Amino acid sequence: MPPCYFSGSILSENLPERIQFIFTFFVLKKKVDFLIFLNAEISLFKKEVFFEQQIFTLKILSNSFMKTIIEPFKIKSVEPIHFTTREERETILKNAFYNPFFIAADDVIIDLLTDSGTSAMSSAQWAGIMIGDESYAGSNSFFRFEKTIQELTGMPVVIPTHQGRASEKILFSVIGGKGKYIVSNTLFDTTRANVEFSGAEGIDLLCAEGKIPSVPAPFKGNMDVAALEKFIEEKGEENIPLCMITVTNNSGGGQPVSMQNIKEVKAVCEKYKIPVFIDACRFAENCYFIKLREKKYADFSVEDIAHELFSYADGCTMSAKKDAFANIGGFIAMRDEELAVKCRNLLIITEGFTTYGGLAGRDLEAIAIGLKEVLDENYLQYRIRSIEYLAEKLKEAGVPFVEPAGGHAIYLDAKAMLPHIPAHQYPGQALLSALYLEGGVRGVEIGSLMFGKYANDGTLIPATMELVRLAFPRRVYTQSHIDYVSEVIIEVFKNREKIKGLVIEYESPALRHFTVKLKELK
Ligand code: F0G
Repeated sequence: MPPCYFSGSILSENLPERIQFIFTFFVLKKKVDFLIFLNAEISLFKKEVFFEQQIFTLKILSNSFMKTIIEPFKIKSVEPIHFTTREERETILKNAFYNPFFIAADDVIIDLLTDSGTSAMSSAQWAGIMIGDESYAGSNSFFRFEKTIQELTGMPVVIPTHQGRASEKILFSVIGGKGKYIVSNTLFDTTRANVEFSGAEGIDLLCAEGKIPSVPAPFKGNMDVAALEKFIEEKGEENIPLCMITVTNNSGGGQPVSMQNIKEVKAVCEKYKIPVFIDACRFAENCYFIKLREKKYADFSVEDIAHELFSYADGCTMSAKKDAFANIGGFIAMRDEELAVKCRNLLIITEGFTTYGGLAGRDLEAIAIGLKEVLDENYLQYRIRSIEYLAEKLKEAGVPFVEPAGGHAIYLDAKAMLPHIPAHQYPGQALLSALYLEGGVRGVEIGSLMFGKYANDGTLIPATMELVRLAFPRRVYTQSHIDYVSEVIIEVFKNREKIKGLVIEYESPALRHFTVKLKELK
């Protein structure tokens, strides 16, 4: 039996009782050789939630004496990093209008803009690319892709698309429309844009703790089930064609959703006959968190957890650019054949025939292989631990971020870090600029620039949180890259008073953060 130990925040108000509980639980189950408690801290927030979901951070070491979790891969092919000087970066940043989307990739030292489509594919995936069957209809690669997704989700209908937002466009064109509401824990920005483009309204019903970056809780991606039922009662189930659960919650810190919460959401939706769909981009990371933090699942394989998670859903959309390690691709899967016919009709007009949906046969092959690889628990342990490792360094230096660390990213809390910059001067974007200047690190703002809206009088209605997301591409960076990133962040944090706010010079009406032009305030 491998030894295991605990670390992370534990509720200390009732410390002896809690320690006793955890100890007894693991000793009785013969799962523990020793226990280490770190960072005991008092949290009065939602105490009962902590007690319910007893396990906070559990690290299972596969080797009894090694404490370093190594990258579970060897590197066969490398890409050089181009280094820039601070002086060069000053010019680059000005020329890019303080918008990281306008910076050339070659001018970035560590690129944490996104974990989407940026994964390193495995040698098995590259080999799969060579056997991709490019037949227009009925390609072998499609049948392998379809079978893999059917086995994973238990859903009979599998519709390939070129990426996540294409799945969203098709789904919401079919089920959305004026007067309709799509309820969610939190809709990702492209998902919301596609909901709204159809004329429907996207409603986020995130749990309370999910909205407070400094509160550590195990499942901050959970949906507020009481608010969901209240909303359905108010608006009428006939106006709510779908409930979408995003796992993990990308816009809210990469935080997981518990199985318990998914079950409760399903029960409410079933009562009102509202289908539940999963936005499954990061399903494997979410399932690994369930294994670590939801006591019932500690002995389950991640694969079994995934099967159970999808069993509560009527369908899912997925961007294969995340947890399938593919550089492009996506799909919609579902149980309802009638809905599938409508989606397929739209697919043929917008994406392509039903057995390739905007993808090459080789892409379908890479996705099918990636969806199996991502369930490897050595990989998931390394993945989750890498982000947590950065979080520990930041915590030690007092840098505020969304706690606990997310599955794919660290979300710095720009509101807490830069109180001298008001929301209408975009503290998140200002922090991003400082990180780029300091060390060539690129991230993305998830705050008032991305989600802010204007009131009728033209004043900004800010987002709830002002975050900077540093998302880690899968299997791309090593521990020394993460050490470097932590040094850059900590240096910026030490000099935070010098960071200046930004003002918008140009913006587009939708998804403005991609093309916005800003300048620094004097
Ligand atoms: N849903 C979630 C939760 C996402 O994170 C994304 C993409 C999508 C849907 C859309 O997928 O890009 O393939 O069209 N997120 C990327 C990111 C862009 O950087 O987080 P897509």
